[in-house]
Amino acid sequence: MNEMIEQLKRHRSIRKYKPDPLAEEQLRSIVESAQAASTSSNLQAYSVVAVTDRGTKAALSRLAADQAYIAECPVFLVWCADLNRLLIAASAASEGEARIPATTEMFILATVDAALAAQNAAIAAESLGLGIVFIGGIRDDPDGVSRLLGLPKYVYPVFGMCVGYPDQEPDLRPRLPLETVLHRERYSSDSFAAGIERYDGELRRFMLTRAGGKRDTTWSKEMAQRLAIRKRDHMRTFLREKGFDLE
Ligand SMILES: Cc1cc2nc3c(=O)[nH]c(=O)nc-3n(C[C@H](O)[C@H](O)[C@H](O)COP(=O)(O)O)c2cc1C
Repeated sequence: MNEMIEQLKRHRSIRKYKPDPLAEEQLRSIVESAQAASTSSNLQAYSVVAVTDRGTKAALSRLAADQAYIAECPVFLVWCADLNRLLIAASAASEGEARIPATTEMFILATVDAALAAQNAAIAAESLGLGIVFIGGIRDDPDGVSRLLGLPKYVYPVFGMCVGYPDQEPDLRPRLPLETVLHRERYSSDSFAAGIERYDGELRRFMLTRAGGKRDTTWSKEMAQRLAIRKRDHMRTFLREKGFDLE
């Protein structure tokens, strides 16, 4: 269709990296691309911490269930929802002390801003021939990550992102059929059963090929397993302590 769309549709997460570092210019272009993303009311309520230090990456890898690629990638980006900068700006501009409204809405704004910026960064990185993988695993121990990176109140780590030159060529992971995701005029679940059945077959073949015939599963089975486990129950308390009160 066009080069941009072709590039987007070639995305696959990279979990093995060459040791080659990124040029400072590349990092700057990636983050400038992130900054160009749309942002709620121009709040720009996010920050990103770029980690290249070996020791810090190794510590982050340990905090995120020992995912080795965090330590191996040349740059690990930690995307944070950030209301701290707004508070500083508003406090300087107003007579009295400014306050962050303790609303779920503020939490959503900052989290969405971080996600939009990060996805722009991912696309920019891929356009430079780099590979990425998002790392939600840093929320296994958000306190540890916050302490390690010096994240203050009103800043929380949403996810990380490995960036570097790919040292693998994984197949593209198939997605759900378009009809199950795209609704016309009104929401409808009518296409779900057939679409999911088709996708289950496709993903089963993908997993069998990828795991050398050892992993016989379907998307539905994976999702059933996933939903059966409660994960990261600590997030609610952690967010409240960070000033994201969710009232
Ligand atoms: C917010 C978010 C968090 C993720 N966390 C992890 C993670 O901790 N570890 C990992 O290996 N992949 C992680 N992923 C990558 C997904 O598993 C991957 O994007 C998905 O399976 C689709 O595969 P693809 O990106 O190769 O197309 C995460 C993706 C997102 C969007």
